[in-house]
Amino acid sequence: MTERLKVHVDPDKCQGHARCKALAPELFELDEYGNAHEAGDGIVPPGLEDKAWLAKSNCPEIAIDVIEE
Ligand code: F3S
Repeated sequence: MTERLKVHVDPDKCQGHARCKALAPELFELDEYGNAHEAGDGIVPPGLEDKAWLAKSNCPEIAIDVIEE
């Protein structure tokens, strides 16, 4: 069984590069300043796990955490 993943954006680290939104639009939302936060409660729907890891590895500010529950 696959573990459930959650994504979390650290608002203190995010600088609005928006790569997360480009790579995983289902998992991230941008505010009016272009900074990201996780969509909803951050739970990664089944099938989007790869996108979660991709977004994490592509954030230049290392602002994204992927939490395995
Ligand atoms: Fe912010 Fe990183 Fe996304 S800087 S907008 S969390 S790519």
